[in-house]
Amino acid sequence: MSVTTKVPRLFLAPMQDVSVLPVWRVLEEYGGPDIYVTEYFRVHPDSRPEKPILRSIIDGPADKPIVAQMIGNDTELLKQSAVWIQNLTPCSGIDINLGCPAPKVCGKQSGGALLRDLGLIRRIAETLAPVVEGTFSLKTRVGFENDDEFDALLDLFAELPLSWLAIHGRTVRDKYQSSVHTSRIAEAVHRLPYPVIANGSVVCHETAAAMTRKSQAHGLMVGRGAIRNPWLFSQIRAQNAGTPIHTPTLRDLWSYLTRLAEAFAEETEGKSEEQTVHKLKKISNYIATGLADGAFLEQLRRVRSWSQFQSECQQFLDSDEAIPLRPVEDGRLFCGMAELLKP
Ligand SMILES: Cc1cc2nc3c(=O)[nH]c(=O)nc-3n(C[C@H](O)[C@H](O)[C@H](O)COP(=O)(O)O)c2cc1C
Repeated sequence: MSVTTKVPRLFLAPMQDVSVLPVWRVLEEYGGPDIYVTEYFRVHPDSRPEKPILRSIIDGPADKPIVAQMIGNDTELLKQSAVWIQNLTPCSGIDINLGCPAPKVCGKQSGGALLRDLGLIRRIAETLAPVVEGTFSLKTRVGFENDDEFDALLDLFAELPLSWLAIHGRTVRDKYQSSVHTSRIAEAVHRLPYPVIANGSVVCHETAAAMTRKSQAHGLMVGRGAIRNPWLFSQIRAQNAGTPIHTPTLRDLWSYLTRLAEAFAEETEGKSEEQTVHKLKKISNYIATGLADGAFLEQLRRVRSWSQFQSECQQFLDSDEAIPLRPVEDGRLFCGMAELLKP
């Protein structure tokens, strides 16, 4: 089992049905993050670790740490699942989801709902930490209803045996629709004895720099922005190294979409074009949003075949024009960027 306790700087955020093995394979071609976190394994009395997620760890980028994330609220079941996942895969650590805002998850007192039960978070951490062989971490938000709750959460986190803490700087109630509480992340960095990873609304090298400057976090976790712009991790590295930052064109974006299609098709072993196009359309929400004033995404929503998909790409992306640095703020897919960039 390959285990690492070193905490690298750039994380790809866990994203259910989005941060999946074919996407990881393509992101690697563009440099990729330093570390991957899987979408969550559901843990309940009838669950067994989901095979596609196990496979993403087993067949994922071999030279990079991959952390397995779990969601659940039963300490013994979480412990058992952590042992299974570690026995079945070369995962580099175990992470617990304390942030999912989906009503069906919170309704079962899992994910973000755990932020209302500090005693349970403590029991989960204290039960799991001794059986986890690599890093043991939590991915939290800054509160359930209100970021005032973060003070009590920090008191708790300071006492837990964690390798690192990832903070999505919104409350559970905020879902994805508010600006990011960077000052709360900064408080955590100041207070906690282990690395803090900042997450939320990093979409370009400028928002990455703003997040690092405002939070002083040890690392960044990037989700939707890295799907929209697969060059992002390399651009952030170039910025940190003071070397030129590559400016991709719309035609480069077309190549990226083509690579995603190929990777999805390999995944389904070319069985169903419809399935590939469906996956491509889903992920295109993050990639095409705002391009050509929304007309490109609107057209992609109508396509039924790979050839139709390609002809829309030809119409909108056959150009040397640079991809806009940031997506438009639309309050749903991408928001909080302008606020993050304020001095
Ligand atoms: C489609 C989607 C699925 C997500 N699934 C997960 C998940 O499985 N586990 C988790 O901790 N967070 C999940 N998240 C939250 C992201 O990890 C991240 O915290 C959030 O998107 C904010 O980061 P970003 O602005 O860089 O995207 C998901 C987000 C999205 C958009």
